[in-house]
Amino acid sequence: TIHPVLLCGGSGTRLWPLSRALYPKQVLKLESEEALIIQTARRAQGKCFTAPLVICNEEHRFLISRLLQEADITPSGVVLEAEGRNTAPAAAVAALFALNRAAEREDPLLLLLPSDHAIPDGEAFQSCVSKGVEAAQDGRIVTFGIKASRAETGYGYIEIDAAAACISAPVEVLRFVEKPDEVTAEEFLQGGRHCWNSGIFLCGAKTLLSEMERFAPDVLSAARTAFEQGRQDLDFFRLDAAAYHRSPNISIDHAVMERTERASVLAVDFEWSDIGSWQELWSRSPKDEANNALVGDVIVQATTGSFVYGASKGLTVVSGLEDAVVINTEDVVLVTKRSGASPIKAVLDRLAAEG
Ligand code: GDD
Ligand code: MG
Repeated sequence: TIHPVLLCGGSGTRLWPLSRALYPKQVLKLESEEALIIQTARRAQGKCFTAPLVICNEEHRFLISRLLQEADITPSGVVLEAEGRNTAPAAAVAALFALNRAAEREDPLLLLLPSDHAIPDGEAFQSCVSKGVEAAQDGRIVTFGIKASRAETGYGYIEIDAAAACISAPVEVLRFVEKPDEVTAEEFLQGGRHCWNSGIFLCGAKTLLSEMERFAPDVLSAARTAFEQGRQDLDFFRLDAAAYHRSPNISIDHAVMERTERASVLAVDFEWSDIGSWQELWSRSPKDEANNALVGDVIVQATTGSFVYGASKGLTVVSGLEDAVVINTEDVVLVTKRSGASPIKAVLDRLAAEG
């Protein structure tokens, strides 16, 4: 059996103001009646899977547990972080949690899942995951590679031997580079030897912990203390905040994947998106005859190629715009260009500084 782990500590600032600090991207109902986190949990349901382990920020505990409850999903645990320290310590805690409940000699297989991606074909996803099981049982950390289609700098890149077919079984990763700069990303794209890292990992809990021990011992020791000194609080398990805070703030990609020799990759054949930008959300949405994607109570006139989202109670009217994004929420209205780098991070930093 596979233990799905829902990593849901991020807030996805790129889709602000749809996503908020208190209403992160994983709870948004994008492209479905169900929140992304529920879509993720459903994807990993079936006879090969245990109930999911959820790791999230304590601020989101009620929101997330209500969504799970409404969807009739009982998690195997909900671990709370007082403060996110990125995915490396979160993954370490998941491994400790699963091992703690496993029989003595067992090495439970973890499926680490970002909780805010769109993967419409659940069957293809599961069949792909099953192809990685044997390698993971053999001590490999199996990644799932996406065919790169642009020089995206927000992803990890996985290099494989050009001759290797990694569709039916995982092959060895030659090199893993997390979030390269633009020039390097362009080189990788042109070279044709790289795929994108989907951010999904399948590995034994012991395998993960031993690689952490080797490459990120300070992450592991902080996570271990936070777990050992953590406490059950009703349905939640609270990590010890002071101990967890001592972990470096680092992703599993930097802490382990760039360094380990145990990485393998399977090329995925399912459609995948991390819905990381308005551009992406727009391009995935159904459109009207003028190429506009419209959500909610919205009227457009002489407007083309735009994404208009009326999330507030009132009516949203857009006239005479081209390739625009208009997001109208209860308390914030955002108007910006559809493509290009999002300037939102700078705005949010300013808002935070001004309190
Ligand atoms: N519990 C917890 N705590 N979860 C976290 C934390 C944390 O501190 N930080 C992030 N997460 C969750 C996010 O909610 C998301 O579901 C997942 O972990 C991945 O984190 P992101 O912050 O979204 O990572 P990324 O998109 O920058 O990069 C990763 O995903 C890319 C694909 O989307 C990397 O794995 C890249 O290599 C990969 O290409
Ligand atoms: Mg992401």
